[in-house]
Amino acid sequence: MCGIIGYVGDRGAVQILLEGLTRLEYRGYDSAGIATVMNTGFQVVRRVGRVSNLAHTVNELHLGGHTGIGHTRWATHGAVSEKNAHPQQSTHGLFNIVHNGVIENYIPIKSFLLKHGFKFSSDTDTEVLCNLIEYHYNKEKDRENRFVKSVQKALFHVRGTYGLAVLCKECPEELVVARKSSPLLIGIGDNEIFVASDASAIVQHTRSVVYLNDGEVAHLTKDDFSIITLGNDNVHAVTCELDWQVEDTDKGPYEHFMLKEIFEQPVALENAMRGRFSDDYSTARFGGLRMSAHELRQVDRILLCACGSAWIACLEAEYLIERYARIPVEVEYSSEFRYRNAPLDKNTLVFIISQSGETIDSLAALQEAKRKGFRTLAITNVIGSSIARESEGGIYQHSGPEIGVASTKSFTAQICVAAMLALYFGRIRDMSFDDGIRFVEALRMLPDAVKKTLSQSDNIKKIAEKYAEYTDMLFLGRQSLFPIALEGALKLKEISYIHSEGYPAAEMKHGPIALISEKCPCMFLATQEHILQKNISNIQEVRSRHAPVIAVVADGHESMRDMVDDLIVVPDVHPALQPIIATIPVQLLAYYIAKSRGCDIDKPRNLAKSVTVE
Ligand code: F6R
Repeated sequence: MCGIIGYVGDRGAVQILLEGLTRLEYRGYDSAGIATVMNTGFQVVRRVGRVSNLAHTVNELHLGGHTGIGHTRWATHGAVSEKNAHPQQSTHGLFNIVHNGVIENYIPIKSFLLKHGFKFSSDTDTEVLCNLIEYHYNKEKDRENRFVKSVQKALFHVRGTYGLAVLCKECPEELVVARKSSPLLIGIGDNEIFVASDASAIVQHTRSVVYLNDGEVAHLTKDDFSIITLGNDNVHAVTCELDWQVEDTDKGPYEHFMLKEIFEQPVALENAMRGRFSDDYSTARFGGLRMSAHELRQVDRILLCACGSAWIACLEAEYLIERYARIPVEVEYSSEFRYRNAPLDKNTLVFIISQSGETIDSLAALQEAKRKGFRTLAITNVIGSSIARESEGGIYQHSGPEIGVASTKSFTAQICVAAMLALYFGRIRDMSFDDGIRFVEALRMLPDAVKKTLSQSDNIKKIAEKYAEYTDMLFLGRQSLFPIALEGALKLKEISYIHSEGYPAAEMKHGPIALISEKCPCMFLATQEHILQKNISNIQEVRSRHAPVIAVVADGHESMRDMVDDLIVVPDVHPALQPIIATIPVQLLAYYIAKSRGCDIDKPRNLAKSVTVE
């Protein structure tokens, strides 16, 4: 949600900033801007719309400079307009700033600054912060560290969240950056330093990075950097290596990142499982849980918190852990958990699932659980992300970067990790050795089964084209396929803008059936043998009300072709893994429907990857 890039070095900053912004565009795409600073002063360009608009103007103007900052915006304060785009400049032109997050107390600060003669030309909280920095700069006595001190002092008075990068007209070879609850990392190159809100923006230049922690302010020059806290303590920086390759952040031969990421699922699942089975293949093992089997046996309840698709993955985890480990599980939206003050007993383990590891509601839920003294674990994809660092232990998905705004390979990897957890928890409780072996065998065959399902993409594309013009759609499934009905509806609505709902197939009779007509296709996820007849009854109910029906069934049930309009037959796998297989057709259907409708699939309207505002 909003992207930041910054550069200080010997190379021309402009192309590095534009390239970084293009890679960050999935974080926000309302408007974009860059600023560079030279001995002669600032050069600033901002444009509403995509980075390509900005690049066009920047290239025409031949901007120069070796130090600069850039931003792609997802509006929070103020309408989408050029004046509200970042960078924002201070009243007397001494500073330019790019900022992710929200300054909550910007109104009293603005009143204070107005009284001191500052002027405002935008509706943003960011401009207020920029002017506050200028205010402190003018008062700062420590001439040597004036730039960094003024940012530090301004932030001391700020309530809210920020990842930010600041340029100062009087220090054209320096950058100051800071973070609180909004990710920021420093990339260390050879005589050049980068800053970004997301590793994808700089991985082509360096893989050596330092993640800033909350409340830290960093002062960067091309060959050095230092970090202090808001309380003025020096910070010893820990450098780590990114595990991403540059190619991971390119589309390759695919038209969209979403399609690429759908097709990456066999590999993503292999990566989620790699090295995570015991030597006798009867259970899973995880290096990062930091809880012994003995401690885990004391857990008598698990609370799972997440947002969006990750929340749906939690619902799957609930089915898996309750069925195979027999531990009661509850699932909460992170944003609800945080403010609900739910009573939890002391042996509850709180688990957060978040692809980005930066979703602010999930981070806040984690912090709330820690504050109350609960053990906390997390499943995340991004190494070094805030949630990964703040939870006591956790499991990395190892899905590789997910750039498409709609989550795909992350979702199935999260369910795969949940299945392995269910196996692990089950095996330290009552699951037998034989059942463990069968579970592991099924998991090891999963990537191939996903590959086979993906090989049906041409068939699913044809089906999708038939349904592209409808305005409503229902997704129905029972038991562990009910969450996949929710996921199908979420994917379809977010990328194709078709109204869609996911429901338990039997529950459909208790309300949604009122929507059923020839204008409302229903997609049934019906791969479970033991409840197939029940699903068939529900299919008959909607067919008798003239709804077109698409059904997903397991191998061996091709005869259902006569009963429905369109049939998708997928491999028959272990019951625990059927949800992962059933996810592939709903992803492909949503993708091809959106493509038929000419939608901007990787950047759906109003959405952005990684939601870092509440
Ligand atoms: C839907 C989607 C979102 C995310 C949600 C949580 O396709 O991508 O619903 O799942 O914003 O994001 P993370 O997992 O990064 O916390």
